[in-house]
Formats: sequence, C-alpha cells, structure tokens
Amino acid sequence: MRKKIVAGNWKMNMDYTSGMTLFSEVINMVNDEARGDQEVIVCPPSLFVYSLAQLAKGSSKVSVGAQNCHQADSGAFTGEISASQVKSVGAEYVILGHSERRQYFGENNELLAQKTDAVLKNGLRPIFCIGETLEERNQNVHFQLIKEQLEQGVFHLAEADFAKVVLAYEPVWAIGTGVTASPEQAQEIHAFIRKEIEAKYGVEVAENTTILYGGSCNPKNAAELFSQADIDGGLIGGASLKSRDFTDIVKAFNIQ
Ligand code: 13P
Repeated sequence: MRKKIVAGNWKMNMDYTSGMTLFSEVINMVNDEARGDQEVIVCPPSLFVYSLAQLAKGSSKVSVGAQNCHQADSGAFTGEISASQVKSVGAEYVILGHSERRQYFGENNELLAQKTDAVLKNGLRPIFCIGETLEERNQNVHFQLIKEQLEQGVFHLAEADFAKVVLAYEPVWAIGTGVTASPEQAQEIHAFIRKEIEAKYGVEVAENTTILYGGSCNPKNAAELFSQADIDGGLIGGASLKSRDFTDIVKAFNIQ
C-alpha cells in the first residue's frame, strides 16, 4: 500500500519566529487530529530546517524536508547547501525540480537527475516535481513533456532507489494562481504517470509510488482531489502557511 502524504512547501516565506510558531501549531494539530497512517512533511527555507527537525523529533507523524540542494557533496559553491548537509541537520526529504527552480534558476532535467542521485546517496528521499505550463497544455504537448521529465529526471534510477522517490504533479498554471486542476484533469495525469512508472519498473513499483498533487490545493478542494484513485496526497504552497488550513488539508483523507 502506498503512503498518503501531505507536504507543505513554505517557499521563501516566514521569518524564524513566525516559522517556529507555525510549525509548533502544525505539530500539535497533526499529532491530535491526523490519522496514524499518514505522513506529513514540512519544507521550510533551509535556514530553519535544523530547528524544525529538532521540534519534529517528538512527532511520529511529522517530518521535515529542504526545498532544494546542490548536486555536489561539498566544495566552493557559495550560497549553496549539499544533500549531506541537509541530512546532517535531521531532514528526511528534499523537494527537487519545483517549477520555480526550473523557471527562475534554470534547472533542467539533466541537472535534476544529478541532484536526485545526491539526495538518494545521502539517505534522503526526493519529492520530485513535474508538470506543464498552460502554454504546453494548450499545445497538447503536456503528456510528452511529463514523460520526458520522468525519463530524464528519475527513470535512470535502479528500482530500489526509485522506490524511495515521491513524485509531485504540479501543473504550473495552477501554482499560486487560485486555479486548481479539476479532480478529473489531475487524475488523468496521475494515472498517466503511474502507467509510465509501470512500463519502466513494473506494476508493483507503480502501485507503491506516492504521487502528490500540487497547485492551489486548499481545505475546500483537498478531499475531492485526494479521493481520486491515483492521487495520494498533496504538495501545498500558500495553504501550508496557515496551521488550520494545512491541518484541514491533512484531515481531508478522513472525509472521502
Ligand atoms: P500553491 O499551493 O500556493 O498553489 O503552491 C503549490 C506549490 O507550488 C507547492 O510546491
């Protein structure tokens, strides 16, 4: 049975004090209210990863991830952080390939494949993001694009490593826009992604891969999205900055 996951991506939001307050609230609410078989991940700015990971030690349901890392182990890369550094402060996950990294920082599939290797080599799990722009959807090239993102970003992995990857489908046109993919649109792509995994790694690996939806997911639309057969949770941006909204999304699994 694949894992149900709700992950929060704070992006470049919150200062230290407000972040610690938010995370303390999330931990308390999730510990009290979430089902035991769900995993909740919070990915703050890297400066706060250590402190959040310390707080998360007391929770069996909540863990912490970084939003990015460099592909090299160490070296003269001013301003960057390595996967081993992320690991050393107690995180368990790293978001890779977010569309904002692809769009604003020029990250391509080839680089992301290297980052994926670095993350796995250091005992962390990637939350690997894929998804199309509105233009690509309108040109009807979105299936091909997603196939390429998978093939070039993660399909080089051996089966045992791929089994540690969490995928996140984030249509760029739905990120931060308030426009959500309809449950049918999201399900169509998630089913396509799972078929591609099946073609590469076989049915068992495909059935065990967690595929998250991201893009204007909120407490109102989460339950319907998460009830789709191939949607196993969400990667949440804006709504992860409010403890009540985020926890209500976590709880959306219970009301399907
Ligand atoms: P929003 O939930 O703010 O649309 O952001 C989604 C996202 O990019 C999560 O990584």
